[in-house]
Amino acid sequence: MSASVSSSPEPKDGHHTHQDTLLKGSGGQNASPPARSRSRKLLIGGLVVAGIIVVIGLSVGLGVGLSVRNDHHHSSLSSSGSSSSTGPDGSVPSNLPMTNTVDSSAAFLSMDIADAAPSTRTYDFVVEERVGAPDGVLKHMLVVNGQYPGPTIEANTGDRIVVNVTNKMPNSTAIHWHGLFQRGTNYYDGTAAITQCGIPPGESMVYNFTFDGWVGSTWWHAHAGTQYTDGITGALIVHAKNESVPAYDGDLAIQMADLYHGFSPALLNLYHTPGGLEGTPGNEPVPDGGTINGVGQYGSTNTTFFNLTLAPNKMYRLRLINTGSFVAMDFSVDGHVLTVIEADGTAVEPVEVGSVSVAVAQRYSVLLRTNGTAGAYWMRAALDQDAFTYDNPGVQTEIRGVLRYGVDDDALPDAFLLDNPPSLPDGSPGELDTDDLIPVGGGPAPNATFSVYFTISMQYTGGPNYLSQFLSFINSTSWQPLQGTSSLFAHLGNNTADGSATLADSQLVTTVDEPHVVEFIIDNLDDGDHPFHLHGHKFWIVGSGAGRYQHQALDNKAPMLRDTLVIPAYTWTILRFVADNPGFWAFHCHIQWHMAAGLLFQLNVLPSESAKFDIPQYMLDQCAREGNMM
Ligand SMILES: *[C@@H]1O[C@H](CO)[C@@H](O)[C@H](O)[C@H]1NC(C)=O
Ligand SMILES: *[C@@H]1O[C@H](CO)[C@@H](O)[C@H](O)[C@H]1NC(C)=O
Ligand SMILES: *[C@@H]1O[C@H](CO)[C@@H](O)[C@H](O)[C@H]1NC(C)=O
Ligand SMILES: *[C@@H]1O[C@H](CO)[C@@H](O)[C@H](O)[C@H]1NC(C)=O
Ligand SMILES: *[C@@H]1O[C@H](CO)[C@@H](O)[C@H](O)[C@H]1NC(C)=O
Ligand SMILES: *[C@@H]1O[C@H](CO)[C@@H](O)[C@H](O)[C@H]1NC(C)=O
Ligand SMILES: *[C@@H]1O[C@H](CO)[C@@H](O)[C@H](O)[C@H]1NC(C)=O
Ligand SMILES: *[C@@H]1O[C@H](CO)[C@@H](O)[C@H](O)[C@H]1NC(C)=O
Ligand SMILES: *[C@@H]1O[C@H](CO)[C@@H](O)[C@H](O)[C@H]1NC(C)=O
Ligand SMILES: *[C@@H]1O[C@H](CO)[C@@H](O)[C@H](O)[C@H]1NC(C)=O
Repeated sequence: MSASVSSSPEPKDGHHTHQDTLLKGSGGQNASPPARSRSRKLLIGGLVVAGIIVVIGLSVGLGVGLSVRNDHHHSSLSSSGSSSSTGPDGSVPSNLPMTNTVDSSAAFLSMDIADAAPSTRTYDFVVEERVGAPDGVLKHMLVVNGQYPGPTIEANTGDRIVVNVTNKMPNSTAIHWHGLFQRGTNYYDGTAAITQCGIPPGESMVYNFTFDGWVGSTWWHAHAGTQYTDGITGALIVHAKNESVPAYDGDLAIQMADLYHGFSPALLNLYHTPGGLEGTPGNEPVPDGGTINGVGQYGSTNTTFFNLTLAPNKMYRLRLINTGSFVAMDFSVDGHVLTVIEADGTAVEPVEVGSVSVAVAQRYSVLLRTNGTAGAYWMRAALDQDAFTYDNPGVQTEIRGVLRYGVDDDALPDAFLLDNPPSLPDGSPGELDTDDLIPVGGGPAPNATFSVYFTISMQYTGGPNYLSQFLSFINSTSWQPLQGTSSLFAHLGNNTADGSATLADSQLVTTVDEPHVVEFIIDNLDDGDHPFHLHGHKFWIVGSGAGRYQHQALDNKAPMLRDTLVIPAYTWTILRFVADNPGFWAFHCHIQWHMAAGLLFQLNVLPSESAKFDIPQYMLDQCAREGNMM
C-alpha cells in the first residue's frame, strides 16, 4: 500500500526537518527549535509532491524502499510500573490475568431507553494489560474493565456522560469518543498529543461531555499509539426518539475487527523493520484473523461462534461497527437481504443490500427481518484481502457467527455451508455501493468559504539502512505526537496574533480564525486506500474521482454526510463541513499502522474561543508525567 521514492526530498531552506531530525537520531520534535512549521513545509512540499509524481508512475506495485525503527516509538522516557513484554514472535506474558469473554446477550441494546428523562450516566473504565484468546489463540491484550470488547455505552442524545478512566497500564493512554462533536469540550475528545496529554500510568482522568444532538451508532477507543489494536474498544450507542429511521423490534451492536496474535508495539517494530516486513518496506502487518463481538475462529480452534437467538418474524436493527485496525470487513447473513438505514450517525434513505463492506472505524445500521425458514444461519465478516501485501499462512479470512430463530438456542447451521455459502435468489442486491447512500432530508452542502488543499502519500525517506524510515505524509509532513504537551495545551500558552500556535515541525495545522464552510481538497497519491476520519465534525462528500483534482464537476445534490470515508488509491476527494466548533481536530487515516507512520493533519478552529476553555488544571499537570505514549 505504498508509493515510494528512492531518495529523501532534500530541504533547501536549512530548517530542521522531520527527516533530518530522525537521521540525527534525536528525540524528534523535542530536539528541534520551535519554528513556523508551515512555511518550511510549503517550501519543501512542492519538491516532495514533484518527487512523488515522478516516481508513482515507476513504482506502482513495486513497493520499493526501506524502513527502520522509528525514533518516537522508542522514547527514552521510561514507563513507570512493571511492564510485561511480548516478543516480536508473539510470545505472551505469563503473569497477567485472563480477559473475560462477553456473553452474546450483551449485544442486545435497550429498546426503551429513549423514553427516559435526560440524565447523567457515569462509568468507571479501568484500562489494563491482560492476556486473552478471542479466536482461541492466547495473546497479549490491553482492555477496559477486563473484557473484550469493552463495555457498551448507551445513552440518549440529551444525556451527559461522565467516564472516569483509570490507567493501570505501564504506558500513558487516552480514550476517544469517535465521531462526537464535543462542542465546547474539545479537551475531552481524547486524542493524545492533540487534545490532551496521555493519562499517566497509575492516574485517572474524568471525561465529561454531552452529545450535542449527535444520534446513532459509534464507538470509543484508545487514541494513543496503536493501543486500541490490542483491545481498548467498545460500542457507543446514542438513542433519540426523533431518529429518522424505520421502526424495528430489536436492536443489536455487532462489533467486527481484524485480529493480530502479536502485540501491537511488536508489530509496529516489524512494520518498521529494516528492509520491510517480508522484505518489502511499507507492508502493513497482515492480520491473523478477526472477531465478531470478541469471538473469532482460527485453525483447529474454530468451533466457538458469536451467536444470537432472535425471535421469528421480527425486524432487527444490527449496528455494524468496524473496531479493527487495518482492513474492511464485509458483513452478511446467509439467506437474508439487509436494509441499510444509518451510516456514521446519519440516517439514510433505506438501501437493500446483500452485504456491507465496513471500513475501519465506519458504522452502518442494517435492518434484518427474521422471515426466512426457521433455522440457524451463518453470519459472516470477511476480511478485505485486497489490502494484504504478503501471504500470512493460516490467516482466518472469514469470521463466522450464528444467527438463529424459531429453533433451539444451541442450533448450529449446516457446517457444509461454511465454505460453500448459499447465494441469495436471482435479482437480489449485492454489496452496498456507497454512492447509493442519501441522507434522510439531505440537500446540497453549503458553498465553501475556506479551502484547504493537501496530498496523501507514503514513502521511503532514504538514508542509511538502519536509519531509514517508511513514513506517511500529508503534503510533506509526517505527524509525530508531541511529547509532554498537546496541540491544544501548547496553543493555550502560545497564542500568536493570527491565532496560530507555535508547534513542532512534525505538526501540520491549518487555522480557521472565524466560522467558515471549510473545503478539504485531497489528492491521494498513494497506491493504497485510506479510511480517513475527521474529529468533531461530520463532512459532506461533494466530489471524488480518479486521478488528481483538476476542477472536475462536483455532485452536490444530496451528498452523503458522515465522519469516516475511504479515499481510494490514486483518487481525489472533496469534503465540506462547517468549522465553527472550537479546538484542535485531527483528520487522519484510521489504519493504525499508517497513523503511527504519520498520516494525520490538524485543524485549529476558532483559537480565540478555545483559548477561553476552562480545562481542568490536573489535565495540564498530567503532561509532566505522561511518559511513554505507545
Ligand atoms: C476515578 O477513579 C479513581 C480510581 O478508582 C478514583 O481514585 C478517583 O477518585 C475517581 N475520580 C472521580 C472524580 O470519581
Ligand atoms: C461535568 O460537567 C458539568 C458541567 O460543566 C459539571 O456540572 C459537573 O460537575 C461535571 N462532573 C464531573 C464529575 O466532573
Ligand atoms: C432530535 O432531537 C434532538 C434534541 O433532543 C436535537 O438536538 C436533534 O437535532 C433532533 N434531530 C432530528 C433529526 O430532528
Ligand atoms: C474450521 O477449519 C476447517 C479446516 O480448515 C474449515 O474447513 C472450516 O471452515 C473452519 N470452520 C470455521 C467456522 O471457520
Ligand atoms: C453461543 O453463545 C453462548 C453465550 O455467549 C455461548 O455460551 C455458546 O458457547 C455459544 N455457542 C457456540 C456454538 O459458540
Ligand atoms: C423477508 O423480508 C425481506 C425484507 O423485508 C424481503 O425482501 C423478503 O422478500 C422477505 N422474505 C420472505 C421469504 O418473505
Ligand atoms: C454556490 O456555488 C454555486 C456554484 O459555484 C453557485 O451557482 C451558487 O449560486 C452558490 N450558492 C450560493 C448560495 O452562493
Ligand atoms: C499543501 O501543499 C500545497 C502545494 O504546495 C499548498 O498549496 C497547500 O496549501 C498545502 N496544504 C497545507 C494544509 O499546508
Ligand atoms: C508553549 O510552547 C513552548 C515551546 O514549544 C512549550 O515549552 C510550552 O510548554 C508551551 N506552553 C504550554 C502552556 O504548553
Ligand atoms: C509500552 O510502550 C513501549 C514503547 O512503545 C512498548 O515497547 C511496550 O510494549 C508498551 N507496553 C504496553 C504494556 O503497552
